Amino acid sequence: MEAGEVRFVDGIEEALSDDALIDQMRNHLLEGDVYIVKNFMPKDKILRIREYLCEIGRSSLPNYQTIEESCPNFHRIDRWDPRAHVRACVHSFSFFPWNHDVFGFFDLFRSVYQFKNRLSGLEPDSFLSTEPDRGCIARISFQYYPKGMGGLNKHQDPFDYHQITVPSMLMSKKGEDFQTGGLYVERYGEHLYLDELCDYGDVVYFNAKCNHGVEKIDPEEETDWLSGEGRWIALFAVNKLASNSRIADSKDLGA
Ligand SMILES: [Fe+2]
Repeated sequence: MEAGEVRFVDGIEEALSDDALIDQMRNHLLEGDVYIVKNFMPKDKILRIREYLCEIGRSSLPNYQTIEESCPNFHRIDRWDPRAHVRACVHSFSFFPWNHDVFGFFDLFRSVYQFKNRLSGLEPDSFLSTEPDRGCIARISFQYYPKGMGGLNKHQDPFDYHQITVPSMLMSKKGEDFQTGGLYVERYGEHLYLDELCDYGDVVYFNAKCNHGVEKIDPEEETDWLSGEGRWIALFAVNKLASNSRIADSKDLGA
């Protein structure tokens, strides 16, 4: 589906307790509208998290890990791997609620998930406990798209009993960290660049069925995976476990 209007919200905590607003937002999301929740996290905190992830990326081997109960946190590099459900060039760092971590990420981002769950018509704390819930679990995926190579094919994400939207928080800024490309949704057959409407720490919610992707980040530049230069986000996924066949995979719609 195509995206509709872009709407802005100030303050996730207030919105979380406003039942009428949640109903209205859910209806708008179902019609394709995009919501940008401003100022969820300050820039200095975001830069500390980026630095921590860069250290991990520089000093340990990236590896693939199947998503199953009690699996470890991990990081991996995908260089347009044809085995992926959606072709991408990205370094991702995954965290699960059953593992503790130094930042306490699931406490820090709990309200982002609660908002996602409420918009999806679910109990606020769904998928956030230390055990899988209905064959699914929350996964925070920090994603680094390096200058030069970084990008993600146009696709649609699973829209099912577990979610209607997959929010992400911007951890970089177009015009500062990179100049061209970034997250877009399709609207009127064109790319609407959401990164251009966002600042550090803003969280974007849109319908998982909207066609979207990450256009290549500064394709003229050299790629240096260790530099940390490029586009960073935090993605707030709810993933099916490998054993769950009820939910479809993301659908790749090409470059
Ligand atoms: Fe997506």
